[in-house]
Amino acid sequence: MLSQYLYISTAPTLGREEVDAILATSARNNPARGITGLLLFNGRNFLQLLEGDESEIATLMERINADARHSGVSVLDRRGIDARTCPDWAMKRVLIAESIASRREMLERDLPEGLDPEVRKMIVNFAVLN
Ligand SMILES: Cc1cc2nc3c(=O)[nH]c(=O)nc-3n(C[C@H](O)[C@H](O)[C@H](O)COP(=O)(O)O)c2cc1C
Repeated sequence: MLSQYLYISTAPTLGREEVDAILATSARNNPARGITGLLLFNGRNFLQLLEGDESEIATLMERINADARHSGVSVLDRRGIDARTCPDWAMKRVLIAESIASRREMLERDLPEGLDPEVRKMIVNFAVLN
């Protein structure tokens, strides 16, 4: 069964290199596990969308939960999906524009088309905060 998880977490002191390292690890591990998704970091919080086989995602979520680089992992949404919304992304980094005014516009361009409108709204709401 194909599942999709959306969670947020907190990492107030994480730097750019550490986020790059997380993305590199994801790019290395995810393809073999059939995991795809996207990651946003706003300088203080992560939001990650993970898609793949339910058992693979559940195993990865346990590892992510135990990762000391962040805390307060909170699952916002978890659902079965018929098809991946990010089939080509081992883990896409979605950048949040500096200017709040251009954030929505930029996300509308960068977020995958197939996202459920409700999930899309949660991601955009996270990205326009602060
Ligand atoms: C916000 C966040 C997102 C992460 N996403 C992934 C991911 O998609 N895939 C992955 O393998 N590890 C991810 N990790 C890293 C895992 O927690 C863990 O460090 C890693 O899977 C260990 O892999 P390694 O044994 O190959 O170093 C993430 C960590 C954080 C803090």
